Amino acid sequence: MRRDWDGLLPRTARLADESYLDFVTSFRARAVQQMYPMLEELGNAVVGREHPAGTAPGIAEIQRSLDALPLVRVWQRFMRSHQEMMWRRTRASIAAEADQWLAAMRDAEARGPGRLLYDPAFVVPDYARVEVHLQPGGYTDDPLGGPVFHYGTHVFYQGENAQDEQHVEMARKAAAPRDGAVRRVLDLACSIGQATVALKQRFPAAETWGIDVALPLLRYAHLRAAERGVDVNFQQALAEQMPFPDRHFDLVLSYILFHEIPWRITERVVPEVARVMRPGGTFCIYEFPNASGSLSPVAQFLIDYDSHDNCEPYSREFVRADFHGLLRDSGFDVAPGPKVANGFLQSIVATRR
Ligand SMILES: C[S@@+](CC[C@H](N)C(=O)[O-])C[C@H]1O[C@@H](n2cnc3c(N)ncnc32)[C@H](O)[C@@H]1O
Repeated sequence: MRRDWDGLLPRTARLADESYLDFVTSFRARAVQQMYPMLEELGNAVVGREHPAGTAPGIAEIQRSLDALPLVRVWQRFMRSHQEMMWRRTRASIAAEADQWLAAMRDAEARGPGRLLYDPAFVVPDYARVEVHLQPGGYTDDPLGGPVFHYGTHVFYQGENAQDEQHVEMARKAAAPRDGAVRRVLDLACSIGQATVALKQRFPAAETWGIDVALPLLRYAHLRAAERGVDVNFQQALAEQMPFPDRHFDLVLSYILFHEIPWRITERVVPEVARVMRPGGTFCIYEFPNASGSLSPVAQFLIDYDSHDNCEPYSREFVRADFHGLLRDSGFDVAPGPKVANGFLQSIVATRR
């Protein structure tokens, strides 16, 4: 019998898994909350000394300067090891109850109030099948990917999103259109639907959709929404080719999608979002920082490390691209968005002209 849920979070199969993953969480917290700030202070000072003001070192030069710091190597080992430990134990724990998870997701498909739509002939593009963040099977190829992603990201958020708090905050702060009319809402690349549900709770009268390329995540998203009786619809679809009419949505939210897709796909997604949005509609974006903002040398190093060692193959091209320029050229006015708990992210409100 499953150990059920802890509020919105699934319990692991055994208490021993939970204890182990609590330890991994504290391991991660040490690397993120204690070591990284030290690294920033020391690393930016070293790079600043070796590259005087006015000269902008490239990533190879930043790496050469930082390689001299033992703390950098220790931090890298911490980051990689805790990630491997987290996925291994999370996957094993969910897999111990595979039959129950798969049956629960299958049974939920017949239940509402919302719908889960997918076409069995849908073809997942190769670029979306990489094992992002080292998740086994990636987002698309592990039938247990939904609960595995959920518990894995619980560790990633260091327990600070156990009840979807960060998604609720982003949905609550998302800028509504000036005229206040919110009839249809889209959570773009919604994964397991945490923001989708939070958006529905903020705009109860709006028809609310979440789309994603990954069916295993959507199946779990639908199970969670159905368990809570929340009327949201999920559909397997590509952000660059959406199954919606022109000018359909009043508000679109995307949370950390763009650094995870190739820039050539982003160049198709942004005009596609412009197509499905009505004039005055708001596109609320929470995303990695990029060339449109300013990144410290250590932040550039972090993103480069993450791209290479944490399987984020497309983030390097995103952080160097002119994302704000693409938004403007696609028909949006671009303004800073609300600050959220995750201060690393940039927040943008792009209003459809
Ligand atoms: C970092 S996750 C997004 C997290 C999610 N917004 C949340 O609230 O947790 C990136 C998501 O983008 C999805 N994705 C990647 N390429 C996509 C595409 N072309 N169209 C739709 N979804 C895509 C992945 O399946 C994954 O769920």
